[in-house]
Amino acid sequence: NNSNSGRTFLSGKHLLITAGGTREPIDPVRFIGNRSSGKMGIAIAEAAANAGAHVELVLGQITVPQPINKQIKIYRVESTEEMQVMVGKLFPASDILIMAAAVADFRPSQIASQKIKKHPEQEELELQLVKTADILKTTAAKKRSDQFVVGFAAETNSLLENANKKLESKNADLIIANNVAGNDSAFGSDLDQVTLLQLGTSPIKWPKMTKREIATKLIQLLATKIR
Ligand code: CTP
Ligand code: CA
Repeated sequence: NNSNSGRTFLSGKHLLITAGGTREPIDPVRFIGNRSSGKMGIAIAEAAANAGAHVELVLGQITVPQPINKQIKIYRVESTEEMQVMVGKLFPASDILIMAAAVADFRPSQIASQKIKKHPEQEELELQLVKTADILKTTAAKKRSDQFVVGFAAETNSLLENANKKLESKNADLIIANNVAGNDSAFGSDLDQVTLLQLGTSPIKWPKMTKREIATKLIQLLATKIR
């Protein structure tokens, strides 16, 4: 391994990355989804592959093309449960997990087997939602000492305080916090401004840059964490 080459410093390493948004079915034709583009997670997968890693990319709904790279194996999933099952299968053989996916927090408590029809007198429809499993938290709870787990924190307010709570409650080694409020929203954008949180160290605020630049810097940082 030559860490100066910029190509092989993660060779032999297995990175498990999730990206995109999950979709929770309501009935055969409808779902609850979110605005995730998948750009950040895909950029991380590409940066990892460029660094020589084997990449397993668990992809939910995305608004950009799937990456084409021999080093990236893609697993398409729809719901949070499907994503959790896939991550659970792939995690034991992974050195690093990066949960960049925008995972639904709630799903309809029941999936109607037929299309829900509206009726002439009906003015309202109530959907009951139940909490989904926290993939990051349940997976990080099983991590070995030689595995490194990265989560994201999307916040509109009290960024550091909220992101720090996630770092601790989810047993992650690193949380990448980003502000998704108003004009600073990272959804769909090529640019992002993130702050890195790790236990026992002060937050590291990175300047605004492209998601590809963030991905490259993140992969360089992660390479130092799993020697
Ligand atoms: N996450 C997950 N499973 C969920 C929800 C979130 O694995 N059911 C992961 C995300 O992929 C991300 C991290 O947890 O890496 C934080 O997600 P975020 O939505 O910011 O936080 P939540 O814990 O869901 O809390 P809230 O949305 O209420 O802020
Ligand atoms: Ca959430």
